[in-house]
Amino acid sequence: MVAVEQSEHEARIPNHVAVIMDGNGRWAKLRGLPRAAGHQAGAEAVRRTLKACIDLGIGHLTIFAFSSENWRRPEQEVDDLMGLLRFYLKKEISHLKGRGIRLGFIGDRTGLAPDILEIMSHAEQQTAKGDRLCVTVALNYGARDEIVRAMRSLGQDIAQGRISPDAIDEALITARLDTKNIPDPDLIIRTSGEQRLSNFLAWQGAYAELVFAPVLWPDFGRADLDAALDEYQKRDRRYGEVAVS
Ligand code: IPE
Ligand code: IPE
Ligand code: MG
Repeated sequence: MVAVEQSEHEARIPNHVAVIMDGNGRWAKLRGLPRAAGHQAGAEAVRRTLKACIDLGIGHLTIFAFSSENWRRPEQEVDDLMGLLRFYLKKEISHLKGRGIRLGFIGDRTGLAPDILEIMSHAEQQTAKGDRLCVTVALNYGARDEIVRAMRSLGQDIAQGRISPDAIDEALITARLDTKNIPDPDLIIRTSGEQRLSNFLAWQGAYAELVFAPVLWPDFGRADLDAALDEYQKRDRRYGEVAVS
């Protein structure tokens, strides 16, 4: 009986993994390099992670690339991050497409440069048929900002009489969020040892399992993902119910 349960646990691959990719700056500092070098190394870790997710049969990967609060960083760092984003999105697009990856974005688009918006829509169009892994990049994303935007849109519909306040339920709110087309994350991994969400997927992550990996993001690799999955598989997701034992 116990053996059967254990093998079921072992086989359990989360459908949706979300990652707070943290520690690029510390990785660079440890090497006496500029922070931008850490972000660049972080982009390589993203590549490795995409490959690992495909190999493992994970359906959805969401990565936190730039938060709505990251604008508070020095202008030079923000420029470096946006530059890297432009570079990688353009360079990787055919690779992503070839590997069956469908790319999408969450976050407030109104704050982003017009050329970045164009690259984003191009990437979405080009990869729309990808059916192996759905990758969502959280860019200018903040959970509170996302909820504010959703509430504004609901408020407008109420003010114009299109919906009644009584019609508001969890499904209606979920359908107004940037993540309306993707399932809730099963597992949220944060690297670098910090143990907080930093405004990531607050609504969607209500029942996600959290794993805090002690590794800095540029060093994250297959072994670290395997370790996070091992940890996930040991968890008992109860959703408020009584444990089955
Ligand atoms: C994560 O690494 C990347 C972004 C937030 C864009 P950090 O840049 O936050 O690295 P640390 O936390 O300063 O080490
Ligand atoms: C969270 O990391 C945002 C991203 C990984 C993009 P931060 O480094 O910005 O978070 P705090 O400031 O440590 O909470
Ligand atoms: Mg950080």
